Amino acid sequence: MDALPVIDISDPDAAAPGIEAACRESGFFYVAGHGVPAALTDRLDAAARTFFDLPAPAKTEIAMARGGRAWRGFFPVGAELTSGVPDRKEGLYFGTELGPDAPAVRAGLPLHGANLFPAQVPDLRPVVLEYLSRMTAVAQTVLRGIALSLGLPAGYFAESYTADPTVLFRIFHYPPSAPDSDEWGVGEHTDYGLLTLLLQDGNGGLQVRTPGGWLDAPPIPGTFVCNIGDMLDRMTGGWYRSTPHRVRNLSGNERLSFPFFFDPDFSRPVPPLPATLHEGARRWDGQDLRAFTGTYGEYLVAKVGKVFPELFAETRHQEAPRIG
Ligand code: OGA
Ligand code: NI
Repeated sequence: MDALPVIDISDPDAAAPGIEAACRESGFFYVAGHGVPAALTDRLDAAARTFFDLPAPAKTEIAMARGGRAWRGFFPVGAELTSGVPDRKEGLYFGTELGPDAPAVRAGLPLHGANLFPAQVPDLRPVVLEYLSRMTAVAQTVLRGIALSLGLPAGYFAESYTADPTVLFRIFHYPPSAPDSDEWGVGEHTDYGLLTLLLQDGNGGLQVRTPGGWLDAPPIPGTFVCNIGDMLDRMTGGWYRSTPHRVRNLSGNERLSFPFFFDPDFSRPVPPLPATLHEGARRWDGQDLRAFTGTYGEYLVAKVGKVFPELFAETRHQEAPRIG
């Protein structure tokens, strides 16, 4: 394999065989035929660039520390760790927009709440909320294809794990790295949930670990890079793999990327799927994902605590934020 496949998802039935092959081989593929207009992704890119160009004090007005347990807002270069090492990127964390009266917010669930939007970039709020809504539909469509590819009814996920999905969205800015740099924009890792749908600008830098070695996942206009996360690996007993990937921006330009994470219901356990599936190979980091028996939320909060240790310690000692 020397390039990741491009799969048209406009007909999930027709897409299922290609999805199965991709999820078995590398866990990565490009999604075409998704119907998200270029005008929307262009607007998102423009608003994000305007934000990252702001002076540091303006960006800090929406620092993550202000987002409390909801884990929303801005973090500067070096604040996020992958495998204990600081990443060379800054970013914005978003998720499903929930007001103070939402049951999950009242209950003080971590990672749930209101987004922090910058006053200086008024278009970011409407464009992010519109993007979340469009991408939720795309993710449910991809999951229809994945369900069919596993011999399950098309609506299997939408009726169970993702009837009330956990939706997280990030915008990352990777400053250019020197050609001889050994720093990673984001170090090698797997994603935590079901699916990630990544919009990337034209600069490239994403690499995927395949059995044949590291493979570039260069930008293809009009597509998203889709990869499966730890929960789908777990549900399928390793038949579909959540594959390590990493980013180094050697383009010389300011790289932006927009990962959308579509994950199971926060409050549900994530048992194996009913279909009889083949035993997978040993996972890259030796972890046995089936050994874990909590809810998806418990898995996610433990993972997030590793990438933002300081903020995590603070959050644990904090009361649920009183908003408004
Ligand atoms: C991630 C990720 C890739 C990118 O956020 O999990 O792998 O290009 N991002 O930003
Ligand atoms: Ni990732």
